[in-house]
Amino acid sequence: MGWRRARCRRSSCKLFFPEDPVKIVRAKGQYMYDENGRQYLDCINNVAHVGHCHPDVVNAAHEQNQLLNTNSRYLYDSIVDYAQRLSKTLPEKLCTFYFLNSGSEANDLALRLARQHTKHTDVIVLDHAYHGHLTSLIDISPYKFRNLEGQKDWVHVAPIPDTYRGIYREDHKDLVAAYANEVKEIIEQAHKKGRKIAAFFVESLPSVAGQIIPPAGYFQKVAEHVHKAGGVFVADEIQVGFGRVGKHFWAFQLQGEDLVPDIVTMGKPIGNGHPVACVATTKEIAESFAATGVEYFNTFGGNPVSCAIGLAVLDVIEKEHLQAHAMQVGNLLMELLNQQKVKHPIIGDVRGAGLFIGVDLIKDKEKRTPATEEAEYLITRLKKEYILLSTDGPGRNVLKFKPPMCFSVQDAKLVVDAMDKILTDMEKEGACEPVRDLQS
Ligand SMILES: Cc1ncc(COP(=O)(O)O)c(C=O)c1O
Repeated sequence: MGWRRARCRRSSCKLFFPEDPVKIVRAKGQYMYDENGRQYLDCINNVAHVGHCHPDVVNAAHEQNQLLNTNSRYLYDSIVDYAQRLSKTLPEKLCTFYFLNSGSEANDLALRLARQHTKHTDVIVLDHAYHGHLTSLIDISPYKFRNLEGQKDWVHVAPIPDTYRGIYREDHKDLVAAYANEVKEIIEQAHKKGRKIAAFFVESLPSVAGQIIPPAGYFQKVAEHVHKAGGVFVADEIQVGFGRVGKHFWAFQLQGEDLVPDIVTMGKPIGNGHPVACVATTKEIAESFAATGVEYFNTFGGNPVSCAIGLAVLDVIEKEHLQAHAMQVGNLLMELLNQQKVKHPIIGDVRGAGLFIGVDLIKDKEKRTPATEEAEYLITRLKKEYILLSTDGPGRNVLKFKPPMCFSVQDAKLVVDAMDKILTDMEKEGACEPVRDLQS
């Protein structure tokens, strides 16, 4: 099986657990089942937001598929109903919606909107950010372009506001000003070179950068500098939106109610696995885009089936109180993980909001050296206990929790108990063995 896939997919398409990949044949809720019927607890998949194969979402797709699927050049109610439902979750100013098929398409359109509206070209992004796989987005994703031909002259990289291992840490007296001033400085340097800022792109909670929680108020300060430079503020909610953070529906709202992004991009969880994405923006930006006279057409974007699915996802979030559930279970998971932090010195930091949590593993308290091999070993051992977890961050040492939102209190206890046992074993062994020996 593995070789067949390797031959037709080639090595740039990766598998989880490449030495011993899992063949999944069905899934339900927060569980996935392999070909032998074994149940795995899924702590990874934030796309199956309301639970794998949720019957309400599956039925909505099935019913609409039997009735009509077409493109948005015809009138049908669901596209308007859907835009109105989404608008109720957002600040009033964000009242125009474009529907698309992937997070990458959404961010690419956001870039076009920003440039058309501001008539500027340059973009500021955070270090280690990932915003998608299109050429335009690889260019604004340091996570990718650092391994390719490098940074384009229209791209500027600001330090990640990581208060645990960033350039300013928890002991700094004004983290918001310190990190925001870095962006201000970048703008000033760009201006000196005659360059003009179109947008600041930021993931509301940087995920591939290692589940980072920017200090509250940072976005507002940055938005102030960016707006002054004539640019717009783009919040990428593709990983973290739709109630995952518990306290709010959108992760940017963790920064404070006074933050209103100019553009919000959505993807992944929006369709619970069906390819749907969305860009929400202001009337003014949408009008600048329309002023080009060039039609925006997207064959599949916002089709009736996608809208039916999107509406069903919103219904389930509401009906099953998943936002409040994410807060309750997320808080408990954080508490249990913090207890582990006291017990196991390898745990340097536990951070998160709702069911978006990172556990930063370190080799030493002083330097906070990423415990990369140990993190890999831990998730490999968890897989043997039928728990699927992944790592991220530049050091690949951050355990990344972003499970389906139906993840339960029992699931939280199960995964933390398993982690405790494995970490205790690792401590007894003195060190962990190299991953390749363990996986063979
Ligand atoms: C923050 C963020 N933005 C954009 C994307 C791109 O989304 P897609 O893979 O649906 O094109 C991703 C995908 O991982 C992402 O994590």
